[in-house]
Amino acid sequence: MAGSESKQENQGLQEHRVFAPPAEFVASATISGMDAYNALCAEAEADYEGFWARLAREHLDWHKPFTQTLDESQAPFYKWFADGLLNVSYNCLDRNVLNGNAEKTAIIFEADDGQVTRANYRELLERTSKFANGLKARGIKKGDRVIIYMSMSIEGVAAMQACARIGATHSVVFGGFSAKSLQERIIDAGAVAVITADEQLRGGKHLPLKSIVDEALALGGCESVANVIVYKRTGGNIAFNEGRDVWLHDLVDGQSAECEPEWVDAEHPLFILYTSGSTGTPKGVQHASGGFLLWAALTMKWTFDIKPSDVFWCTADIGWVTGHSYIAYGPLAVGATEVVFEGVPTYPNAGRFWDTIAKHKVNIFYTAPTAIRSLIKAADVDPTVHPKNYDLSSLRLLGTVGEPINPEAWMWYYNNVGGARCPVVDTFWQTETGGHMITPLPGATPMVPGSCTLPLPGIMTAIVDEAGHDVPNGQGGILVVKRPWPSMIRTIWNNPERFKAGYFPDELGGRMYLAGDGAIRNKETGYFTITGRIDDVLNVSGHRMGTMEIESALVANPMVAEAAVVGRPDETTGESICAFVVLKQARPTGEDAKRIALELRNWVAKEIGPIAKPKEIRFGDNLPKTRSGKIMRRLLRVLAKGETITQDISTLENPAILEQLKDSN
Ligand code: PRX
Repeated sequence: MAGSESKQENQGLQEHRVFAPPAEFVASATISGMDAYNALCAEAEADYEGFWARLAREHLDWHKPFTQTLDESQAPFYKWFADGLLNVSYNCLDRNVLNGNAEKTAIIFEADDGQVTRANYRELLERTSKFANGLKARGIKKGDRVIIYMSMSIEGVAAMQACARIGATHSVVFGGFSAKSLQERIIDAGAVAVITADEQLRGGKHLPLKSIVDEALALGGCESVANVIVYKRTGGNIAFNEGRDVWLHDLVDGQSAECEPEWVDAEHPLFILYTSGSTGTPKGVQHASGGFLLWAALTMKWTFDIKPSDVFWCTADIGWVTGHSYIAYGPLAVGATEVVFEGVPTYPNAGRFWDTIAKHKVNIFYTAPTAIRSLIKAADVDPTVHPKNYDLSSLRLLGTVGEPINPEAWMWYYNNVGGARCPVVDTFWQTETGGHMITPLPGATPMVPGSCTLPLPGIMTAIVDEAGHDVPNGQGGILVVKRPWPSMIRTIWNNPERFKAGYFPDELGGRMYLAGDGAIRNKETGYFTITGRIDDVLNVSGHRMGTMEIESALVANPMVAEAAVVGRPDETTGESICAFVVLKQARPTGEDAKRIALELRNWVAKEIGPIAKPKEIRFGDNLPKTRSGKIMRRLLRVLAKGETITQDISTLENPAILEQLKDSN
């Protein structure tokens, strides 16, 4: 944290228009009006533990009630509801079946090719239970780690629920990650099983999954994996390792449709999800069962104002945290009907989202600003895919997540998708926070495009300086959370020291959660605007990546001597990756440079995954360094943007290099 510069690129967000929540929305909202919001905030202020205890009792079903709400004795390793027993899958499935929702549709699966299949709560419970019994039959038990490397499917959700049911800790790896990334996660998690599919279907293409699992396991070090469970999605040709591999349909065949849930204590690790940090390899963010589920359920009610008749659609992938909180767990915990989408927003054309909203009469739609920006562009090029051509009258609420939304995209979304009727909730949160942190409440908070507005009740966010002192409104600083909250990260798997140093740094007193983002509060309203990461984490299309990871991937290539990676603003993807590379051979130019750049981009895709491919690679004889040899990324960021360097470069060892790196190859 210390010494890193805040990326100010996003600070240009200046928007003063205020959009009041529509009156009819306020009338029926769960949190209706600012008085109701303020009352909840006051309740949390007055009796923090009492507030959370009340919510945990009201919104979750406990097998054995907890007696202690928050245990701070090992801070910052906080524990919530620790002596309570529950099961997450019971809360998501059984209790809906028991509450009269057995026949209610839980999941509407919209396949890549437009085919639709549905599962009601009874069916989802049965499938999950059979799956869970199948896992048990293979010797998988409470506390084991299971990797899920799967495409979007009912089976993917059932796989997560089945793990939760038996108390196994899952770690979902996004299907776009490479064999090497998958191998690293398998090893770090010490996984005993991998659940995958033969192939995935995206945008009309068959993409491999199982063969990548085979490749990952063959890279070595994965001896802990005794089982690979394969869901047959396409019937594509795959290798089968008898003994280790088993088809999902064979695994569940003959299994009982009943499986007694494993009652776990609230702190039992529900999942580990790997995410990028500013240094080192991806870290396994560990979440607990009770606190995570409480917040996933509660934010469905508060932020999304979910009603029993709603059809909810979150377009994220289960490989990211959004797909955990708002696909696999939150919607089911509140007994909602949700769309699970296998495809991509541009197939068969860029009207796919709008068409799917109309087809399933979606009421609440939650997506990423990048998707919105790319669909704005697409509608400019081809007016037939403009949202106005689709019946979007079912929509009543819109949401965004993952990156800042620029006011222009907000306005387009609000007017063209929401018909100027639907509130837009710009939800700020992170893999580590487990659920929304700062967001408008659709029936209470007046919205300002480009601002995520105010923290949810009970979430004690603040903006401080580098010494941990509060800064006044209107002055930018470091975003922190001053009190622990139930759905917070518990630790980094296998690395508690990194957890402590990274999130609760001593410089800030060791008790404040450091989000890693810069933020500023409006002088009058106190509204928060996120100004971007203060560390070396990039956000490309809402996907989080560490510059170090990409640099390590580049230098692993035998041709590369040195590499420095920076982010730069991108109209569509928010940020894009620009890499500055020094080769062992002479600096290439012309066609040579193009060819090698392409080779290196593909190399990064193979090392990490296609999402980490640099958009641009520039070659130099060297990189700009201080006399002590430190690469000056600050200057590289300016060059990547195509701007002129106005900063002081007197500490630079080799100023002439800037001229060489100024232009694209
Ligand atoms: O920089 C913030 C940005 O995304 C980061 C978290 O990324 P990840 O852990 O992958 O989780 C993404 C989905 C929750 C944050 O540190 N971010 C997320 N939401 C917003 C945002 N930046 C601005 N506005 C948001 N609404």
